[in-house]
Amino acid sequence: MRAGIIGIGSYLPDNVVTNTELEKIVDTSNEWIVERTGILSRRTAEKHIGSSDLGAEAAKLAIKNANLKPEDIDMIISASSTPDHTFPATACIIQDKIKATNAAAFDIQAACTGFVYGLITAAQYIMTGLYKNILVVGSEVLSKMVDWQDRNTCVLFGDGAGAVVVSQVETGGVLSSVLGADGSGASLLELPAGGTREPASFETVENRRHYIKMNGNEVFKFAVKVFEDCTRQVVEKANLTLNDIDFIIPHQANVRIIDAALKRLNFPKDRVVINLDKYGNMSSASIPVAMHEALYSGKIEKGHKVVLVGFGAGLTWGAVLLEWS
Ligand code: COA
Repeated sequence: MRAGIIGIGSYLPDNVVTNTELEKIVDTSNEWIVERTGILSRRTAEKHIGSSDLGAEAAKLAIKNANLKPEDIDMIISASSTPDHTFPATACIIQDKIKATNAAAFDIQAACTGFVYGLITAAQYIMTGLYKNILVVGSEVLSKMVDWQDRNTCVLFGDGAGAVVVSQVETGGVLSSVLGADGSGASLLELPAGGTREPASFETVENRRHYIKMNGNEVFKFAVKVFEDCTRQVVEKANLTLNDIDFIIPHQANVRIIDAALKRLNFPKDRVVINLDKYGNMSSASIPVAMHEALYSGKIEKGHKVVLVGFGAGLTWGAVLLEWS
């Protein structure tokens, strides 16, 4: 059996934060952010909003676009790096919000690669015939997890959500996939406190340990390398070449990561979907939001072969080659 995406949706909070506004918060400049990252603005959610709120809106649209009802969903996989809680799973909260009463629900944690991990996981249940319709949601409220005193990180991230329904398809769908991890790099990008390693305490709060910490240079080098490697691997696994690929939709972290990887792949930038200028890095939401925009702008069409490639904390990486059906 083949598994493919039959519906897609996304949702972005209304509030736009420009680089110029960040100049008032940290010692940065619009020029630095644009030149070093390609980001012009990002969205931020309101105070009372959690990842499940954004995820539920994207999910409702994905289900509608799949011509299904919430009751038709058999399983929900949420891939948020910024879940509502440690537990219960954000997927369960989304299940209740959208009234997908027949769905099993669980979270996976693969940070910015989460959507790719989730999509491949969903595809397995479809290909074995165990389930019919699976919702995969990448939703993030990173604005509550970044340190607004740390210019190294706060300029990079944004809030948003994307979701897809994965079901059986007659042609195309998932042609190949690659997943990987290297836990030895776990400390390069982490949110140190709040788990069992460093439970919340006065000290963890005082030392700002509940915010994202990142070694930007090391993560940059890692990202360029795995972007290239797993794009090549996923294409080879499908017995295709890069010339057969119509579009790459990469994780939207930094335009310089994308440029460096494309140079190594010798792949033209006009066949790459990029929207990080508007939204920054939305972690697990980046790829589905970019895919949704590319589809509805008419860029991606039926029959197109598209590589989704993700990388992030863990360290984790992954790619899926889809033929749009
Ligand atoms: N505004 C102005 N200056 C900044 C700044 C900001 N927002 N952030 C960092 N700087 C400064 C640094 O403090 C440093 O100053 P110093 O030389 O006085 O110490 C200088 O800019 C250069 O820092 P560097 O880290 O070498 O910059 P860079 O060109 O590598 O860009 C990142 C930094 C974070 C943009 C880049 O490393 C990156 O994108 N890394 C990957 C991040 C990522 O994508 N993470 C998520 C992966 S899923």
